[in-house]
Amino acid sequence: EIKNLEDIFEQRIANDEKIEPKDWMPEKYRKTHIRQMSQHAHSEIVGMLPEGNWISRAPSLRRKVALLAKVQDEAGHGLYLYSACETLGVSREELYRQLHSGEAKYSSIFNYPTLTWADMGAIGWLVDGAAIINQVPLCNTSYGPYARAMVRVCKEESFHQRQGYEIMLTLCNGTPEQKEMAQDALNRWWWPSLMMLGPTDDASVHTEQSMKWKLKRKTNDELRQQFIDQTVPQADILGLTIPDPDLKFNEETGSYDFGEIDWDEFWQVVKGHGPCNKERMNARVNAWNEGEWVRDAAVAYAEKQENKKVA
Ligand code: 3HC
Repeated sequence: EIKNLEDIFEQRIANDEKIEPKDWMPEKYRKTHIRQMSQHAHSEIVGMLPEGNWISRAPSLRRKVALLAKVQDEAGHGLYLYSACETLGVSREELYRQLHSGEAKYSSIFNYPTLTWADMGAIGWLVDGAAIINQVPLCNTSYGPYARAMVRVCKEESFHQRQGYEIMLTLCNGTPEQKEMAQDALNRWWWPSLMMLGPTDDASVHTEQSMKWKLKRKTNDELRQQFIDQTVPQADILGLTIPDPDLKFNEETGSYDFGEIDWDEFWQVVKGHGPCNKERMNARVNAWNEGEWVRDAAVAYAEKQENKKVA
């Protein structure tokens, strides 16, 4: 019997085939990819702000160079992901409009303040650590352009995580004040890092369908558990205490049991009421407006080059 387009598509997903931009795909598949990929790109761009705050305050030239390279990488990841998103038929201008209007989401984690230099260590260690756990499975996501973008992104993320962990190690081996600064940063970044991986599976509206379409290869809770299991031993090496009194290794599961996450805080931040949401949005909108002359100059130059070729 003639298989309809839907059946053929499902069969391709079942065969672990890559779906490419020009292939037929259900409209809902396209829409959920534009949703996730654009929010991922917005997260990279907004994610530059918390760290950008410390580039001019880095304690040494080596730290400054590493932080500068990391923030520059985040910009590149954002542009990479916007390009991958454009293959689904949405324009770059539209994506920027959605971000600047406050319509689009970006990762909750970037709405927290970076109060001391130790935050640069905690962000690299925890936030990029969680991002790697989240992004490695995405290298096998069914949509070709997204999967290929993730391969490149993941290579750079491991440098981000290592430079963060090295900052924490240096502080923990330093003076008591430096170790206290590292502990304070862990206290403030631990729970928001767990929330970054999204709501629990039973509260996640997209996970079931995203798993079926192999957009997601692991659920939010699986990724969160993997992050905790990997990070607790690293905190032990640092000699830092994870701010969760219920954290306990479970001999049966071979994983750590952990305390209740404050999902009210998560949804407050996602809805725009986090500590830095307004500041982050203003920074992005101001950068966009102040950068208009740069975009105009680039377009004028490109047209001049084009006319030269034609003439
Ligand atoms: N921050 C803001 N919104 C979040 C969120 C978070 N941490 N977690 C979930 N949400 C939103 C979802 O977007 C969804 O809202 P929507 O329907 O308007 O999109 C709603 O909460 C329900 O959550 P779901 O779990 O059902 O949504 P998803 O299936 O999309 O799962 C996700 C959420 C795990 C973040 C998934 O979108 C994902 O894997 N995205 C790609 C990775 C990513 O975006 N990471 C963000 C950080 S990027 C980064 O860290 C870069 C590094 O260099 C620092």
